Amino acid sequence: MEELIKKLGEQLDASLANIRGKEELSDFWQEFFGKKGKIADLMKNLGKVSKEERPAVGKIINEFKESAEAKYRELEKKLDAAELERRNREETIDITLPAKKQPKGSLHPITITKNEMINVFAGMGFEIFEGPEIEDDDHNFTRLNVAKNHPARDMQDTFYVAEDIILRTHTSPGQIRVMDAKKPPIKVLVPGRVFRSDSDATHSPMFHQMEGLVVDKHITLCDLQGMLDKFVQNIFGENVKTRLRPSYFPFTEPSVEVDVSCFECGGKGCGLCKHTGWIEVLGGGIVHRNVLANCGIDPEEYSGLAFGIGIERIAMLKYGINNISLLFENDLRFLRQFRD
Ligand code: PHE
Repeated sequence: MEELIKKLGEQLDASLANIRGKEELSDFWQEFFGKKGKIADLMKNLGKVSKEERPAVGKIINEFKESAEAKYRELEKKLDAAELERRNREETIDITLPAKKQPKGSLHPITITKNEMINVFAGMGFEIFEGPEIEDDDHNFTRLNVAKNHPARDMQDTFYVAEDIILRTHTSPGQIRVMDAKKPPIKVLVPGRVFRSDSDATHSPMFHQMEGLVVDKHITLCDLQGMLDKFVQNIFGENVKTRLRPSYFPFTEPSVEVDVSCFECGGKGCGLCKHTGWIEVLGGGIVHRNVLANCGIDPEEYSGLAFGIGIERIAMLKYGINNISLLFENDLRFLRQFRD
């Protein structure tokens, strides 16, 4: 029996010495420690040993088993450590490699300009409201004090969707929707797309406007000019100022055309301002009392100011863009210039 154990011990050492990887190690386990393995066989032989000798032989077998197991664990540890070392070596990250660049888009100049405009007015406490692009005649014209056969309808060439349903020609119907929904004090911006049958270097059939509406007690033209001064200074530079010229819109009385002093020449006169020192930037005025009344707001108690700014116009002035169609052709050579 001892002879058998000695031989098995030699076999075991030889097998262990040949093991190179985890797979071989697990084969080795099966061979010696498995249910039908060599150590199990050894146990079976215990039956043949005489009763007296059995405890002593059993002890020897157990000791052999324990020492064999210890050898197995030790080798297993070594193999694990070697495997870890190999992986660490192979999987290191070369931090000196240049990073892969993710191609990234950028905001459209109209979006950049719109966001900038919203930021300025948000700083003055304006909220944002958005109305529908497909409007009814009522909101776009009639309740804005432009009756059915009012000649002022000719000021805006309208796209019709159906009788009395149109593509909004301006963001001013947003005024009506806001005043229907809430009562003064009101301070909102209505940005959005508008549509007119008009197309040349400075006009596009689809363009963007930013409507402003403030309704409260004692609102005057001074409030309008004060806010617009801050607006143009933020967009065009600290030293510019505004000038109000009398104008006409059916929904404001008085109505004004707002000019900004030329930020290119400082007012001396240049090509940009057509040698006048001033550039027209937007329209506005004091909300017509009929419009307030149309929305259930008492014009004796409240007054309002409104303005409508063309976003393309501001973007074109700001970036020196001379043709509005550049903004809608989506030519990457143009758009890439607005990357930040
Ligand atoms: N809605 C006018 C336009 O599109 C602009 C405007 C807005 C004028 C608000 C006065 C008040 O031309």
